Amino acid sequence: MSTSYYLTTPIYYVNDKPHIGHAYTTLACDVLARFKRLDGYDVMFLTGTDEHGQKVQKSAEEKGIDPKAFTDQVSQNFRDLTATLNFTNDDFIRTTEDRHYAACQKLWAKLIENGDIYLDSYKGWYAVRDEAFYAESEITDGKAPTGAPVEWVEEPSYFFRLSAFQDRLLAFYDANPDFVAPKSRFNEVKSFVKGGLMDLSVSRASFSWGVPVPGDDAHVMYVWLDALTNYMTAAGYGQDGGESEYAKRWPADLHMVGKDILRFHAVYWPAFLMAAELPTPKRVFAHGWWTNEGQKISKSLGNVIDPVEIANTYGLDQMRYFLLREVPFGNDGDFSHTAMVHRMNGDLANDLGNLSQRVLSMIFKNCDGVMPTRPAQLTEADAPILAALDGLLEGQRKHYDSQMFHEALKEIWEVVSAANRYVDDMAPWALRKTDIDRMKDVLWVLAEILRQVAILIQPVMPEASQNMLDQLGVAADERGFDQLGGATRLSGGWTLE
Ligand code: MSP
Repeated sequence: MSTSYYLTTPIYYVNDKPHIGHAYTTLACDVLARFKRLDGYDVMFLTGTDEHGQKVQKSAEEKGIDPKAFTDQVSQNFRDLTATLNFTNDDFIRTTEDRHYAACQKLWAKLIENGDIYLDSYKGWYAVRDEAFYAESEITDGKAPTGAPVEWVEEPSYFFRLSAFQDRLLAFYDANPDFVAPKSRFNEVKSFVKGGLMDLSVSRASFSWGVPVPGDDAHVMYVWLDALTNYMTAAGYGQDGGESEYAKRWPADLHMVGKDILRFHAVYWPAFLMAAELPTPKRVFAHGWWTNEGQKISKSLGNVIDPVEIANTYGLDQMRYFLLREVPFGNDGDFSHTAMVHRMNGDLANDLGNLSQRVLSMIFKNCDGVMPTRPAQLTEADAPILAALDGLLEGQRKHYDSQMFHEALKEIWEVVSAANRYVDDMAPWALRKTDIDRMKDVLWVLAEILRQVAILIQPVMPEASQNMLDQLGVAADERGFDQLGGATRLSGGWTLE
């Protein structure tokens, strides 16, 4: 039986249209999900929409639509985006689904049973934009540290005994040094927790757009408690007959999130789970934020980037490649048309496109369109490049497991560049006149390089890689990672299309 790998995107607020930031988080998960599937894992890749809370309710009110009808509409935009951008999520969860209510209420009951939730009243600041509570000391000029406007809230509220979890969280972080990445972000989380934790308000009583608190109709659950629980809902928690799925999927292997929502995932979420005596997720990766031509992306500046527009302008695979190659994953990045065009012309057209074009057209012209067969004997000139090629997979696994997508791509492109140099050094066009057999061997080496490279770039560029593999004549069931690293070789002998 293959090993389970469960990874999640944050669930997106349905207050607005999807933009490049949303696409980025899901893209990162999509390439990882595809990589793991090709590497033989039983993958579950989850995304979805976060539909409750004041922010969504307000957006619905502004549009004069009832929140359920509004969330149906906007959630559909996110679902459509997953198809448009070729995302391969296995499930799409909406927090307004019955299965999710069941999971939230089960978790709540467990927290009550264990004595970690009590009724009191909340008096303090709340930022609807962040759906977060802030302490007086964090507020400057009526704004939260994130720049979000805050409002004063006074209402009865249930509280979660977060203060009781400081030591357990710190011990947990010590015992799990890879729980949060990048390291610098993990350090921020640790110092936040070391600074002391206050009990957290986990219900709201002044509006009703949320999951009802079991046994107290006056309250709905705080939207973040509701939202975080989605990861367990989709894994079968609280579902009739969901036990075996839950046993297989939980705890999640990876929660991918943006840096702005790390605290919820790395502090509150493990604390809730510890309190409920449930296993904690294995890892949380906090990626950076994109700016647009150097400027912060915001609706008010009117510079929101529409991922569908970018994909239409430059091509979907090109966009996918750019977003993951341009910026070290975890850092902030700037989207500019110049940078996009530069990557496309350089890495994609000149390096990979050119290599594949040259090799295929030489085979076509000089080998009567027949793929050369595997040489009986290779020369010393062929050994280093094939060794580099065969060695790629190990590095790819390491980089994907640490979410260093840019490093993974960089290493593949080093082999692509070496292959372009190999073409120049071997000069197959000259061999055509002097040593036709050697020319065929050289072209075979190059085709083998293209085959493995195309297999390896499938997660990032699913369409382009498929075209390459089709052109090379590689069968559809011979494109998994078990075909890499010298385990099998291009056999050749077939006529190219
Ligand atoms: N609903 C919450 C998440 C709940 S998860 C249990 C939420 N939603 S969101 O729609 O506001 O944001 C979702 C993700 O988009 C976050 O990971 C956020 O970091 C990401 N991005 C939003 N703008 C972004 C950029 N400009 N650049 C990169 N990612 C950005 O938060």
